[in-house]
Amino acid sequence: MDVTSTKRASEVLGSPLMINKLVVKNRVILGPMAVLRPTEDGRPSEQTIAFLRRRAKGGVGLIFVGGSVATERAWNESPFFPNIRFDKEGFIGDLRRLVDAVHEDGASIFAQLFPSFGRMGVPRNGERISAASPKPVVMGAAGFPDHVYVPGGRVTPLPDEATVEDIKALEAAVVASARRARAAGFDGVEIAAHMCYFYSSFLSPLANKRTDEYGGSAENRARALRDVVAAVRTEVGPDYPVGIRMSVNDHMPEGQDAVGFAEVAGHIVSAGVDFVSLTEGNYESMAQNVPSQSGNMLAHGEPQAFRSAIGDVPLFLSSTPEPQQAADAITAGHADATMLARQLLADPDYANKVFSGREGDIVWCDHANSCLRRLMTNIPVQCHKNPEMGSEDSSAKRSTLLQNLFIWAAGNAFLMAIADAAAKAAPKAKR
Ligand SMILES: Cc1cc2nc3c(=O)[nH]c(=O)nc-3n(C[C@H](O)[C@H](O)[C@H](O)COP(=O)(O)O)c2cc1C
Ligand code: SF4
Repeated sequence: MDVTSTKRASEVLGSPLMINKLVVKNRVILGPMAVLRPTEDGRPSEQTIAFLRRRAKGGVGLIFVGGSVATERAWNESPFFPNIRFDKEGFIGDLRRLVDAVHEDGASIFAQLFPSFGRMGVPRNGERISAASPKPVVMGAAGFPDHVYVPGGRVTPLPDEATVEDIKALEAAVVASARRARAAGFDGVEIAAHMCYFYSSFLSPLANKRTDEYGGSAENRARALRDVVAAVRTEVGPDYPVGIRMSVNDHMPEGQDAVGFAEVAGHIVSAGVDFVSLTEGNYESMAQNVPSQSGNMLAHGEPQAFRSAIGDVPLFLSSTPEPQQAADAITAGHADATMLARQLLADPDYANKVFSGREGDIVWCDHANSCLRRLMTNIPVQCHKNPEMGSEDSSAKRSTLLQNLFIWAAGNAFLMAIADAAAKAAPKAKR
């Protein structure tokens, strides 16, 4: 693209963004990531604070706290642990310490509230997991991102169909967690309704087979999420930023496309949504969710479909680390901010480098996804492009040599092809 005909990335991404009454100082956002190493009982640790402060110092305008749970149920069924807890009053003090530290470094901070993991929940201690319909997540071996190999793929445990009582109990628990986030000083909250998690399972006909008022039409499929947004809005008042995180496309045969998801979003935003954080695909189409190319979402027309359906509600674009590409999308009106995850693991100073025209100094994420392999195996997340990542606080534990070897092997196509062949042969051997 002819750079002289477009606004410079530094100017566009460096300009302030209004979310409800909050002014965010620029348009580079740290996306939610479960890399924060909270304490075993679910409180922000010194490493949590140091990791987030480092990104605030690097210039991002807004930080999302991910790997966090809104309810005791989510804490018990989470596939990743430990998580940062918002489900009890006793956590507010520690959360406030985290918020105050990030504010000191000049960034705004939002809490990602995970209501329940739904189809991705892990049933433990005899507890049930539930979703819109009893449908497991089927992850084919070929659907994983680059350099992530899962021999034979994976099928999650079957959830129960959520009862209306389940839906209403969860709604009340999310409202209470939003109140706690606000009491801790968070500048806003996001209700996680993406991937294959609880609310996500209602939004697409691929996972929602219900015949009651929560299934069928787009309006019915939007109902559970719309109701929780409305209830949170009533709790926190009109001026407090409340948003949702949604998948924008199933990327599956017979799945829902961007126009379908945008139609569902259209039924939700009027309940009081101040922003929509867009994510691609879900666990059944992981390669789309964590892509290796900048700008996939724009190429698929997904932010554009949301813009037509929901007007000027701020939209956060994902996976577009190429600064001018993100800036052009914002200038064109397709999105309002760029939200980055892996790129900000690899280079915490990305934002400041863009703002000061030092793009040549950016340490680029290579999309080889060793961070993701670590997350999937509950090994401390580190980034091989940024040795500081994971020990921003000097007392944080690094992974062991054996764990590093395992992560390397899990990203090796040849070794994993052997493991795949062994997995395929195993059931035959039993017969
Ligand atoms: C290590 C890791 C942890 C993640 N944890 C979360 C999380 O807690 N919540 C969430 O919504 N997304 C999570 N994600 C997804 C990212 O926020 C993001 O959507 C995805 O990585 C694609 O964006 P990117 O191309 O900028 O990395 C995680 C991703 C990675 C790599
Ligand atoms: S480990 Fe680092 S460089 Fe590799 S994909 Fe993750 S963030 Fe990017």
